[in-house]
Amino acid sequence: MKVAIIGQGYVGLTISAFAADYFDVTGFDSNQKIVNQLNSGVSHIEGVESSTIKKFIKKGSYKATTNGSAIQECEIVVIAVPTPLTSDRKPDLSFIESACKTIGQNISKPVLIINESTSFPGTLRNVIKPMIEKYSSNSVTHLYAISPERVDPGRGDFNQKNTPRLYAGLTPEASARTRQFYSKFCDELIEVSSPEVAEAAKLFENTFRQVNIALVNEFAQIAYSLGISVYETLDAANTKPYGFMKFTPSAGVGGHCIPVDPTYLAAVAEEHGAPATFIRRANEVNLEMSKYIVRRVAEDNGGNLQGKSILVVGVAYKPNVADVRETAAELVIKHLRDQGAAVSWHDEVVGSWKGQSSAPLQGADITVVVTKHDSVDEKKILASAPYVFDTTGKVKGAKGL
Ligand SMILES: NC(=O)c1ccc[n+]([C@@H]2O[C@H](COP(=O)([O-])OP(=O)(O)OC[C@H]3O[C@@H](n4cnc5c(N)ncnc54)[C@H](O)[C@@H]3O)[C@@H](O)[C@H]2O)c1
Repeated sequence: MKVAIIGQGYVGLTISAFAADYFDVTGFDSNQKIVNQLNSGVSHIEGVESSTIKKFIKKGSYKATTNGSAIQECEIVVIAVPTPLTSDRKPDLSFIESACKTIGQNISKPVLIINESTSFPGTLRNVIKPMIEKYSSNSVTHLYAISPERVDPGRGDFNQKNTPRLYAGLTPEASARTRQFYSKFCDELIEVSSPEVAEAAKLFENTFRQVNIALVNEFAQIAYSLGISVYETLDAANTKPYGFMKFTPSAGVGGHCIPVDPTYLAAVAEEHGAPATFIRRANEVNLEMSKYIVRRVAEDNGGNLQGKSILVVGVAYKPNVADVRETAAELVIKHLRDQGAAVSWHDEVVGSWKGQSSAPLQGADITVVVTKHDSVDEKKILASAPYVFDTTGKVKGAKGL
């Protein structure tokens, strides 16, 4: 069975690495550099080892390409392209649309098309299917299904195999074929009654996180104003064995999912005349966290950061990954610079970002820890400046939330 996976990023390459054990996988990506790198056996994402890519290339079950015609031979096509926000924070389906164009122009026999990209309910039925049909030159009927991706890059305990997977087809045959495909490399498959339920469940999972993170970020500010430790209070609340789930405060949310997906849900809610006030406010609270942190740092330093040399430690959006998409560090750095500080950053996992390289972990007036990778030594952080503000709760002895 030949499978094409459109998009070879965090999601697409991860699926490729599991599927290539059972299928002939063609990883299609529009980025020539990524394709060249993959074909030389080098993985560009955490969680997929280069040795795995090399193994499948050698076995002949994996190749990457920018050539859409490679899709022609495939029986299954999986979509795993970005679904970001536009500059005015609206759902941006342009990558889905261009993937659909490539698929539509290159399929001639009946195929099963599965969407793994996160989007609002109705995307499979009302966007993907009509778009592929529009670009197909023949009247062949295809099968369509959704199986939203839940991968958490860099995570060790849950992966493609042991994370339960939701799915639904537009027809019973599409559902059955989708189940057959994933059952090769996923232990638990849960069919829901419609693609819209699967699409909405994915958005709600991440909205749940966004809202709870906002709540704990707001609570961190309340705890500080009351003169109590937010961390001790959360640990105390967490002793309740039911009805409570612990979230920890931070400089905000980052990555391709948590800051983005709730906005997809809010957009579709508002389009249907339903309220999304809670979701919108949670997003604002998380975005405002960077300003709060800079205010706290300024207060502790005589109210003025003008001319101070400030080192931001950790610009990845979460520990132990190089992913900087929507990172909270960006806003923290912006607000520090707005205060007149000379800001550099240290993150050897990321290496280079926005045309700048990771600075040494030393010699600053002030250090602000946004993300702490396991490889970064706590003592070195504390020694890097006379004043250290830690937003992660991991650097003992530093000032913090
Ligand atoms: N990263 C995660 O942790 C995660 C988890 C669950 C779901 N998702 C969802 O999965 C989808 C993909 O996210 P990702 O993190 O893998 O993105 P990514 O940016 O890591 O990878 C996407 C890849 O698609 C390629 N691409 C873009 N347009 C293309 C096109 N038209 N044809 C072929 N290739 C194209 C890009 O070059 C890139 O390599 C998104 O909808 C995201 O919300 C992501």
